[in-house]
Amino acid sequence: MGGRCISSAMPASLRLGVNIDHVATLRNARGGAHPDPLTIAKLCAETGADGITLHLREDRRHIRDADAEAICAWAGRPVNFEMAATAEMTGIACRLRPHGACIVPERRAEITTEGGLDVVNNRAALRPVISRLRDAGVVVSLFVDPVPAQIYAAAEVGAQVVELHTGAYANDKPGELQRLRMAAALTTQVGLECHAGHGLTFANVEPIAALPEVRELNIGHFLMGEALAMGLPAAIAEMKRLMLAARATAL
Ligand code: PXP
Repeated sequence: MGGRCISSAMPASLRLGVNIDHVATLRNARGGAHPDPLTIAKLCAETGADGITLHLREDRRHIRDADAEAICAWAGRPVNFEMAATAEMTGIACRLRPHGACIVPERRAEITTEGGLDVVNNRAALRPVISRLRDAGVVVSLFVDPVPAQIYAAAEVGAQVVELHTGAYANDKPGELQRLRMAAALTTQVGLECHAGHGLTFANVEPIAALPEVRELNIGHFLMGEALAMGLPAAIAEMKRLMLAARATAL
């Protein structure tokens, strides 16, 4: 504002995809229905999320089939369906037809998606999955480390988007911002849209958000953790209000 010069070449807009997997993690901890991922997805949409990201893992540890179905059917925001390149997940994605599918590596023992997809060494397996998804009208993204060979391979196997893994950057690995900068530029040079995500927080998001080629950030764990700090005061106040009002009428 106040007197700042606005360049005539406005940078392309940047979308926020909110990953709601950990709403389901919390729901599943009690085995009930609260908190409900669809309800939270709607709240995210009302408060600024441009898209909803969810990962239907092979072991269904957080998001379940019914969550994915309900959120895709709601269609209030474009859904980014993270999936392993398996026949089962490809079938589900082709049936639910989310806006996009982001193919990620998946190892049963991992706590979260630990590294990027090895596109270079899995071209033959990825090609038919990508073409089935594209035939179903799903925009296909590949989650890769900021490595040029992986980006060239993503273009070669028919992906439309590359999501750059920001995990090493978030862990303060030296030189990682520069690698991401070069990878984002290369992604657009090879004709793909560039997204980024993993481990992003209030403290580290700005340099990534400033990369002009990046069109979307997918952020989950930090937002859900921060929502506790920001939302708990209001939840506690409401609980106290109900408790004390009930006690007042009982007296
Ligand atoms: N992008 C991808 C492909 C992911 O697998 C994840 C984690 O599920 C994220 C983004 C979001 O990462 P975080 O939860 O650390 O924000």
